[in-house]
Amino acid sequence: MATSRPDKRLLRLLPVERWPSSEEARASRWFSPVALGPVLAHERTWIPAMVPWRATDDGFVSERVIEWYRRFAEGRPGVIVVEATGIRDVPSGPLLRAGHDRFVPGLRRLADAVREASAGRTRLFLQIIDFLSIKRRPPRDVFLSRFATIDEALRSRLPADLASLDSSAVRAHLGTLDDEALRSVLSPRDHESLTMGHRERVTDVHLPHVRDLPATLPPLFSAAARRARDAGFDGVELHYAHAYTMASFLSRRNDRADGYGASREGRMRLPLEVLAAVRAEVGRDFAVGCRFLGDEVIEGGSRIDDAIAFGLAFARAGMDFLSVSKGGRFEDARAPKVGEAAYPYTGPSGHECMPTVHIDAPGPFGRNVSLARDIRRALRAEGLDTPVVTAGGFATFEQAEAALVAQDADVVAVARQALADPDFFEKIRRGHGEEIRRCFFTNYCEALDQSHKEVTCQRWDRDFSDGDAAALAPRSLDGKRRLTAPAWTPPSD
Ligand SMILES: Cc1cc2nc3c(=O)[nH]c(=O)nc-3n(C[C@H](O)[C@H](O)[C@H](O)COP(=O)(O)O)c2cc1C
Ligand code: SF4
Repeated sequence: MATSRPDKRLLRLLPVERWPSSEEARASRWFSPVALGPVLAHERTWIPAMVPWRATDDGFVSERVIEWYRRFAEGRPGVIVVEATGIRDVPSGPLLRAGHDRFVPGLRRLADAVREASAGRTRLFLQIIDFLSIKRRPPRDVFLSRFATIDEALRSRLPADLASLDSSAVRAHLGTLDDEALRSVLSPRDHESLTMGHRERVTDVHLPHVRDLPATLPPLFSAAARRARDAGFDGVELHYAHAYTMASFLSRRNDRADGYGASREGRMRLPLEVLAAVRAEVGRDFAVGCRFLGDEVIEGGSRIDDAIAFGLAFARAGMDFLSVSKGGRFEDARAPKVGEAAYPYTGPSGHECMPTVHIDAPGPFGRNVSLARDIRRALRAEGLDTPVVTAGGFATFEQAEAALVAQDADVVAVARQALADPDFFEKIRRGHGEEIRRCFFTNYCEALDQSHKEVTCQRWDRDFSDGDAAALAPRSLDGKRRLTAPAWTPPSD
C-alpha cells in the first residue's frame, strides 16, 4: 500500500497555539480602525503591493488584473495597495501604467471591483513607481565587440604593445582574455554591464535624462497620482523603496553633486519635492503615503539612522502613512544568465525583503519589525502621529497583534500569506483561523515574478478539489496553474 510522506514544509510553519474566536478578533487592535490622513481604514489589516504580471502588454488593466484584486478584496482587508504602477507612458511589458489619461478607465474598473467585492470595506491605494532602464545580460562576444568602452583609461591597463592598436584590434584582443584578465582590463562599470547587464543609475548625470530627473519626476508622479484619484482610488503610495529610482536617490550610495545627493538633505530633496508636487495636485482629501527602506542592507547603503531621518522629514512634510520595507536592491543581486535581466531580490538584500524559511536566525517571521519600531518611536518622540506600516513574514494573528500591542507599528501588512489565502483576514474575522491555507514562505511566487510569469501560489496549484468550479477556473498562459485562489465557503457561523 502506498504511504504518503509527511510534507516537511508544514513543520516550518510558524506554530499557532490557537486562532482567535470571532469576538477576540473583532476586539483586537489589528481589526480596529486607523486614520491614514484623510482616509479612515476600517482595520489595520493591509495587503502591500504585489506585482502579478497580469496587465496587458501595453500596460492596461486586464480582466485578470481585476480578478486578482477582486479575490483579495473578498477577504476585506483594511487596505489593498495595488502593484507598482509606472508613472511614465513608455512600454514596460505587462506591468500596470498610469502615465496617460487613457489608463484611467481601466483603473476605475479595478477600483469599482474592489469596492464591490469588499462591500466598501477595503480602502484602495495605487503604488506609483519610476524605474530606470536595465538591459539583459549580453553575450560576451557581443558586449566586447560592440559595447565595451575603449578609451584611454582602458588602453592604460593594456600591455604597451597593444595600447596603441585601433579600437577593433583592441576589441579582438579583449575577446581572447579569460574572465580574470578581462576583469582587470575593463572598467568596473563595464565589467558589471558584461556580467549583470547594463543598468542606469541615478548618479549617471552625464546622461541628460538622468541629470534632469529632479525636473521630470515631480510632474510625472503628480499626474499619475491625479489619475489614481480620478479613477476612484483612496490614495497613492509613492514607491520610494527597493531597487527603483526614488530609493536610489535616498541611498547613501547616491553621491550626486547637484544638490540631489551626498548629504541626507540632498538625498531626500527629490522625494520631498515629489511629495509636494503630488500634494499640490491631489489636495488634502486624498491619502498620500510612501514605502521606503528601513535598511538598504547593501554595503555602503542607508541604514536605520538614515531611515529615521527620512521618516521624520516625510512625516513633517505631510505624508499620510509610512510603509517600511527592507533591502531588495540591485547592487548585491545574483548575476543573471546571458539573455536575462538582473532581479533585485536574488542577493542578501533581496532575501531580507521577502525572507524565506531558509534565511538565517531569527528566521523570516516578523523579521523586519524593528525597523518600523525604531522609525515609529522617533516620530512619536517628536510629536508626529503618522501611522507606520510594517511588513515581512507576518503569518499569524498573534504575531501581528503582538506587534501592534507593543506599539512597534500601527498597521501590519501581509503579502505572501494573503496570496496563499486571500480569505486569510475573513477567516480570522469569522473565527475560522484553523481553515487558513498557510504560506510555506519558500517563494515559489517570487520565482514566477522573477521570470515575469503570472504570479500564483504553489498552495493553489494542486488544490482542484472544488469540482467543476476548479476545472473551469482560469489558467495561466502555460495552462498549468490556476490563476486565482480556490473559493472558500464559510461554515455556517
Ligand atoms: C510576487 C511579489 C510581488 C511583489 N511586488 C511588490 C511591489 O510591486 N511593490 C512592493 O513595494 N513590494 C512588492 N513585493 C514585496 C511585498 O509587498 C512584501 O513587502 C514582501 O513580500 C514581504 O512581505 P510578506 O513576508 O508578507 O510576503 C512583492 C512581493 C511578492 C511576493
Ligand atoms: S507560493 Fe504561496 S506558499 Fe509559497 S511563498 Fe508564495 S504565497 Fe507562500
